[in-house]
Formats: sequence, structure tokens, C-alpha cells
Amino acid sequence: MQDVLDIQVVPLSPACGAEIRGVDLTKPLSRETVEAIRDAWDKHLVLVFRGQNVTQEQQLTFASYFGDLGSRKKAPEPLRARAEGAQQDHEKVLLVSNIKENGVPIGAFGEGEFWFHIDSGYSATPYRYTFLYALELPSTGGNTMFSNMYKAYDAVPEALKRKLTGKRALHIHEYNRARQADASGDISNIPHYYHPVFVTHPGTGNKTLFVDRLMTTALEGFDPAEGAAILDQLYDIGERREFIYEHVWQHGDFLMWDNRCTIHARTDFPKEQRRLLRRCTVEGDLLRE
Ligand SMILES: [Fe+2]
Repeated sequence: MQDVLDIQVVPLSPACGAEIRGVDLTKPLSRETVEAIRDAWDKHLVLVFRGQNVTQEQQLTFASYFGDLGSRKKAPEPLRARAEGAQQDHEKVLLVSNIKENGVPIGAFGEGEFWFHIDSGYSATPYRYTFLYALELPSTGGNTMFSNMYKAYDAVPEALKRKLTGKRALHIHEYNRARQADASGDISNIPHYYHPVFVTHPGTGNKTLFVDRLMTTALEGFDPAEGAAILDQLYDIGERREFIYEHVWQHGDFLMWDNRCTIHARTDFPKEQRRLLRRCTVEGDLLRE
């Protein structure tokens, strides 16, 4: 068992993010250690463990200390090719990869830039947590940027906060990575959900801005043009540089983040270079203002 006293929490940026040292993720963890990690998580939102060597089962075991494991969500048939991968053989695991074997992608969300988003933000109960482990990395790029949405909420002008209190926004997923979903047509066959614009984090009790550029496409009860202009303003607040921690991946990095109070994005990377990360999640709950 891990001795809780060995754990060090080293902040990585003024925005969010901390490295946790002294934890071996392949070992069973004591309740005290899990609580220490949870406390650091509530404070820093994104945790980084370097130099790990975890199997799929060890990753799932570790994630399960923090809740019920999330199942990979199936895309509707017309969009399925965007989210499936030949080597995704476990319903709780998603491989984020651009690797193809015999011309067939082994994972999903392969190459290029990925706009800011919330994992499964388009569902009624977005994943509470995401755990991502680096197996193969390109020589440059493919960084993951995390923005602190508590800080974004605090930065929303008071008049706009009043205007948006009690309002909901439409989140929709077309399984694109760098193009906003189109909500103008019939979306009944595309995963979507209306969430409060401002969400109270169930763990910390603090308010967050729950909006992202990739999937949040309309404000309920607003004229479309006015809603789009307000959303543009909110995306920009959420993506302010001072709210962002940019993670430059190293082999063996294991990251975990809280989807209720962060958004994340990926920078571009050379598409001819292999990139493979193993993702699992913890199921979420209905979100309230
Ligand atoms: Fe993601």
C-alpha cells in the first residue's frame, strides 16, 4: 500500500494543473492516498503522473477508485466511422490514435487539431472524469490544453451573468474535431443535450462556465444571431491564455481531469507520426446550475 506521506503535489501553472509525485499507479492505493489525490484534484482540476507504466486493467482499476467507469458512447450509424477503432476491444476504453493497421484506424479521433470541448458534453450525463495515458507520441505537437472554467465563470461580466442565469445551451456532437457542429437542420439523429450555461460543481460547490467552442452551438430562448454572438464571447473567455495549462506529453504520462470545470483541446502534430493514448472515464450525473 502507498504511504500517503510520500505524495507531493507540484503546481504546473497559475491556471490549473499539478504534478503528483510519489504514487505508483500499478499498486493498490490506500483510502488516504485516494483522498489526497481527490483533494489535489478539486484544487488543481488536472493531475499529471509522470513515468508510469500501466496496463489497461491497472488504468481501469485506478479510475474506479473515483467512481463507476464510463462506457464508450456509440456514435449513431451515419457518424460511426468517426469514432470507431479496430483495436477498441473493451467497452470502457477508447484509444485516441491516428495509427492505422492494414488501412484501418485502430482507434478514434486520429489526427490534427482538436478544438476545446468537454468529453461527452453532448450527453445528459457528461463524464465526470477522464483518464488519459500516453503510449506513443509524435516528436512535436499534440499537446493537450486545459482551461480552468471556474476562472472563466468569474471572468464573465456581471450583466451577462444576470442575463444567462437560468438559461441553457445546446451541446451537440457530430464527431468532428475542428469544426463546430451544425445545429441548423434536423438534429434528432445526432447526440445532443441542453445543459445550464452555468453549472454548480457538485464536489466543490463553485460555479463554472459550461460552454465550449466545438459542441455548444445555441442558447435556448435567444434569437439565433444574438445567441451566437453571446456564445462567441463565452468561448473567448473560456479560451483566455491566462486560464490555460498546456500539457506537453512525455512517454509514460498519465493525466486525469475533471470535465465539469475544465475544457480541453489538442494542438496539431505531424500526421505521419504515430500517436496513441488510452482513455477511460468515470460516469457523470445530471448537471444543475
Ligand atoms: Fe476530449
